[in-house]
Amino acid sequence: MARVAVVTGGTRGIGEAISVALKDAGFIVAANYAGNDERARAFEARTGIKAFKWDVSDFDACTAGVAKVEAELGPVDVIVNNAGITRDGTMKKMTRGHWDEVLDTNLGGCYNMCKAAWDSMNTRKFGRVVNIGSINGQAGQYGQVNYAAAKSGIHGFTKALAQEGARAGITVNAIAPGYIDTDMVAAVPADVLAKIVARIPVGRLGQASEIARAVLFLVADEGGFITGSTLSINGGQHMY
Ligand code: CAA
Repeated sequence: MARVAVVTGGTRGIGEAISVALKDAGFIVAANYAGNDERARAFEARTGIKAFKWDVSDFDACTAGVAKVEAELGPVDVIVNNAGITRDGTMKKMTRGHWDEVLDTNLGGCYNMCKAAWDSMNTRKFGRVVNIGSINGQAGQYGQVNYAAAKSGIHGFTKALAQEGARAGITVNAIAPGYIDTDMVAAVPADVLAKIVARIPVGRLGQASEIARAVLFLVADEGGFITGSTLSINGGQHMY
C-alpha cells in the first residue's frame, strides 16, 4: 500500500518540490501550509495534492492536523519537517518576538509534528522523518542568530531522535540545504546575495528539486540503515 507523507510548508518553495516529488514517486501526500489560502488552492489545482492548513508552531494544531490527515488519508509514515521562516537582523535589532517566532516555527515545529505521529510510528514499526536544516545552522550566518540557532537545533534534534527511533524501524535524518532559489532567498538584499553566490563553488543557487531528490532517497523503504545523518546540499559552499 502507498505510504502517507506529510510535508510541512509543503505548498511552496522547497516544500512544494518535495510534495510533488513524493507524489510522483507514489506516496499519498498531505501538504501542510500555515497562511496563504489562495496560494494553497492554486497549489492543489496545479499538483492534485491536498493542502491542510495549520500552524506548525502550535502544538495542539499539529496534533489535530495529523489526526485529520490520518482520518482522511491513513496513518502517517513519513514526515518532512520543512516549514521555516526567517526574521533576519543583527542582534542589535533582533526583538524577542523575532527570536521566538523563528525558534517556535523552525525548531518547535519539528517537535510538535514528530510528537503527533511518534506513537503511531512506534506501534507500526515504521517511520521516516526528514528534517530540513540549513547551511546556516552548520556554519552560522551574520544577521541570523535566531535562524542559525533553530537550524542548528534541528541537527541535534535529528541525532537524538534517530537513536530513539532506531529499534522501532523509524529513521530520522536531516538535510542541510545551502542557498536555494526560493522566495526566502530572494528576500535577501541583492548586494548581499550576490556576495553569497560568489562564494558558492558551483557558482549558482541550488534548485528546490535538488533538495527533493535527496528526500526521496532518505524516505525509501530501503533506507532503513540510514539514520541520524545529515546530507549537506550546498554547491560546495560549506564542506562539513
Ligand atoms: N560580515 C560582516 N559584516 C556584515 C556582514 C557580514 N557577513 N553582513 C552585513 N554586514 C555589515 C554591513 O556591511 C553593515 O555594516 P555598516 O553598518 O558598517 O555599513 C552592517 O553589517 C549591517 O547593519 P544593519 O544595521 O543594516 O543590519 P541589519 O540588522 O539591518 O541586518 C542583514 C542586515 C539582515 C544582516 C542583511 O545584511 C541580510 O539580510 N543579510 C543576509 C542574511 C542571510 O543570509 N539570510 C539568509 C536568508 S535565506 C535562508 O536562511 C535559507 C537558508 O537556509 C540558506
